[in-house]
Amino acid sequence: MKVDTKVFGSLSDKEEAHLFTFQNSNGITIKVTNYGGTVISILVPDRDGNVDDVVLGFDNIDGYLGKHPYIGSLIGRYANRISNGKFILNEKEYSLYQNDGKNHLHGGLKGYDKILWNYNEYADINRAGIMLSYLSFDMEEGYPGNLKVDVNISLGENNELTFEYVASTDADTYLNLTHHGYFNLNGAKDLIYDHELLINASHYIETDKHLIPNGKLIKLNGGPLDFNIEKPIGADISKLANGYDHCFVLNKRDVHPEFAARVRHMGSGRMMEVYTTEPAIQFYSSNFLKGIKGKGNIKYRKHLALCLEAQHYPDSPNHPHFPSTLLKQGEVYKQTTIYKFLTE
Ligand code: BGC
Repeated sequence: MKVDTKVFGSLSDKEEAHLFTFQNSNGITIKVTNYGGTVISILVPDRDGNVDDVVLGFDNIDGYLGKHPYIGSLIGRYANRISNGKFILNEKEYSLYQNDGKNHLHGGLKGYDKILWNYNEYADINRAGIMLSYLSFDMEEGYPGNLKVDVNISLGENNELTFEYVASTDADTYLNLTHHGYFNLNGAKDLIYDHELLINASHYIETDKHLIPNGKLIKLNGGPLDFNIEKPIGADISKLANGYDHCFVLNKRDVHPEFAARVRHMGSGRMMEVYTTEPAIQFYSSNFLKGIKGKGNIKYRKHLALCLEAQHYPDSPNHPHFPSTLLKQGEVYKQTTIYKFLTE
């Protein structure tokens, strides 16, 4: 495989974002920029060989520099919400930027989605990708510790788009990284109601109306949130106030990525499977998407796309019984999440 590299656009006189294209021999093409580690497009053939772009995004850098809900980007230092933008670590209280009402969301004012990452592109016979790296400084957005983050984003001949994250810090900190792709397996021609979803989860995390956990894990036992048996996203969505925006606790995790979710679009025959080492996955049905013009002048609207964000539980620093998101000085954080594209 190989990588095609070109300039994507300027952020300032001194800073240029690049665009990297990887293509495999099965007709899958992925474009990624080092601005925000953002996946801009994923072209996937349908069962008849017709290609569509299965993620939302923008045609040029300007779209990404404006305000948009994290379309296709990396998220850090902490994906999802931290209540009141506060946590206590080693007996000291830290205050984060409150960008979601009183709460902190997706890393704050300038999260990893707005960083121009250093990059190194690479390719071999079976895989092409970019290794992104960023040194997040001590007290950036209020978080302690100089944190070195590497994210390897690659496409394989096996049709897997893989995110491998590695991080280390010089002082204890909290960390929760994810990728925020907005998928529509039918090329955003219609809402996602006809996409069939399966989530390999035993529980979901109960939250208040601001999407902050109350500490309780609720067993999935039928009902609108239960996707243990595959069902169309549109089947029960109207039973929820605004749509899906829930964190699901995944069954058995390991050091190796395990099956987390599957989305199928019967009309096109496209299917996507998600595998991860993370303990949870946020299923977000783009409930707040509106007023944005995306690629090819398509108007982005509510329920046009779905996000499956592998991560730790929201607000873990304030819930000691949740799996820990603490990264101690000297430890290494690792995560692998895979989005695999198939056609049936
Ligand atoms: C969150 C949503 C939020 C969206 C875009 C998702 O990860 O769960 O509540 O609106 O990101 O910011």
